[in-house]
Amino acid sequence: MLARQTLQLIKTRRTCRSFDKYKEVDENKLDNILESAIWAPLSIYQLQERKFVLLKGKAREKAAAVIVKDPTILKYMRYMYDHQPWGRDDDWENKAIDFAADLGSAPVMVLALTQKNANRHKMEHNLATMWCAAQNMMLQAHAEGLDSGVVTFASEKVKKQLVELTELDSEKWEPVYILNLGESREDPAPMDRHRENVIIVKEN
Ligand SMILES: Cc1cc2nc3c(=O)[nH]c(=O)nc-3n(C[C@H](O)[C@H](O)[C@H](O)COP(=O)(O)O)c2cc1C
Repeated sequence: MLARQTLQLIKTRRTCRSFDKYKEVDENKLDNILESAIWAPLSIYQLQERKFVLLKGKAREKAAAVIVKDPTILKYMRYMYDHQPWGRDDDWENKAIDFAADLGSAPVMVLALTQKNANRHKMEHNLATMWCAAQNMMLQAHAEGLDSGVVTFASEKVKKQLVELTELDSEKWEPVYILNLGESREDPAPMDRHRENVIIVKEN
């Protein structure tokens, strides 16, 4: 039973890009979502060197205002529009512009940061650990009846300003993504997944 429910939860989670900014998120639900992040798999290289910063109210607004200065936010949406047949509706471009204006207006945002590491292999582990936590949070949010959406950014200037908002040291800390949390104002269609990507190698 749990196996079927877990798979169902995984398959029905969708990335949301338009939230109801006036619907507050229950504190217990938020607490469970952050707990799920903490319990994501850990790389031995990273261990506890990560932060999940919960941003609400004015703090959320300040962070969103910094992130939307990054041109990759809109570039990402443009790429999706150009590559997804289901995204080619007339309204898509307006949706993208709306999203880039206030990052979807989610009432709550989690900023995920990892420690920088000059060693490429270790840095890859640091980043991978953060993405494991992202998936945990998205699934826990879905299980709590909430919607979520991860957003990435590339501008070094934006990243530095974001870290400064948290009062952490921007020489040491790297923002990896923000996770929007709240209640969706849309019902996004799932993107196709290709079962052919699964390869079974069997030797008798
Ligand atoms: C590594 C990674 C980076 C992503 N970056 C962004 C992003 O910058 N902006 C955005 O709107 N969505 C971003 N997404 C969300 C994906 O676009 C989304 O997961 C994908 O379109 C599939 O939709 P689904 O999550 O509803 O299944 C990212 C997802 C991943 C895994």
